[in-house]
Amino acid sequence: MAFGWIDEQAELRRRAGLVRTLRPRPADSPLLDLASNDYLGLARHPEVVEGAAEAARTWGGGATGSRLVTGTTELHAELERELAEHCGFEAALVFSSGYAANLAAVTALAPHGSLIVSDAGNHASLIDGCRLARGATQVVAHADPDAVRKALGTHGGPAVAVSDTVFSVDGDAAPLAALAAACRDHGAGLVVDDAHGLGVLGEGGQGAPYAAGLAGADDVVATVTLSKSLGSQGGAVLGPARVIEHLVNAARTFIFDTGLAPAAAGAALAALRLLRREPERAARARAVADELYARLTAAGLEAVSPDAAVVSVRAPSPEQALGWAADCRSAGLAVGCFRPPSVPDGISRLRLTARADLSGAELEQAVRVVGATRP
Ligand SMILES: Cc1ncc(COP(=O)(O)O)c(C=O)c1O
Repeated sequence: MAFGWIDEQAELRRRAGLVRTLRPRPADSPLLDLASNDYLGLARHPEVVEGAAEAARTWGGGATGSRLVTGTTELHAELERELAEHCGFEAALVFSSGYAANLAAVTALAPHGSLIVSDAGNHASLIDGCRLARGATQVVAHADPDAVRKALGTHGGPAVAVSDTVFSVDGDAAPLAALAAACRDHGAGLVVDDAHGLGVLGEGGQGAPYAAGLAGADDVVATVTLSKSLGSQGGAVLGPARVIEHLVNAARTFIFDTGLAPAAAGAALAALRLLRREPERAARARAVADELYARLTAAGLEAVSPDAAVVSVRAPSPEQALGWAADCRSAGLAVGCFRPPSVPDGISRLRLTARADLSGAELEQAVRVVGATRP
């Protein structure tokens, strides 16, 4: 029977406790949200919503074409200029998602005959970029600059190392300075995914490359998403102007994709301007994460010390992680649940996000519920 294998896979997933389901969220959900990636609490900020509405009124519901045809509006150009300026890079290129930005950066910067050295904990979109690239990929141990150095030493041609700046599973940071040094010693480029760093790291949320003194370097490229701290949708690649020009000409997820919807570009630009006007939002997100971690560990839970706004709590098994998250939900708290295959080490976790706008009382409620429902 056509697609018969799908039923076999579904049965295997069910037995392993790995079935995923969609849960449409009402606009006025009563749940306390520690599951979203809205780190700065900007997704529903009136200025951000108005940025989206105004852009839709001015430019319409869609970008109307790919970026190289009709899909580049003056709004896209403005967003690119301000993003590059904020993050400290020479130029930026906006994509329809962070996923597309990662596919673009990795595939366009790893041609045939090149080597990609990829951290074992990288996000799926970087992994898929490696799979699509013409260069050969070598996966190295997580957050291990010596392993990167060793891998680069085995190759004579063009090479890039790719890494998340903040890993989405445990919220731990990559050793960016040591990675950059390893790349420089071998004349290799460094591509970092700052999806969880933008808006959170750096004094005013300029991101991890800026905080590490690497923004604007001619051998460093960063990708970001507009869908987390900026509360919108879309992604971008930041780097030297010659790299960005190369992407315009060579990146297939840029060339063959409709431009980012104006409403998303308008919302992201409004959020970025808000962040630049109120840079303390970034420090607040970090402080909330530290406080959440301290309270969780004081309650006897096994959490990972956060380097940005993601706080990960270990669960004994995929089934128990799922049950734990469901019990939290029943008690009024939305938390994320990471299970294989989303976790490269096979360890299931609850994933809590520390939003800058969470109050002390909300943190207390969150820790109480997570503690009371533990398996
Ligand atoms: C580390 C990382 N990179 C890239 C992405 C993809 O970004 P987007 O959701 O904008 O496609 C995500 C999550 O969504 C992520 O966590």
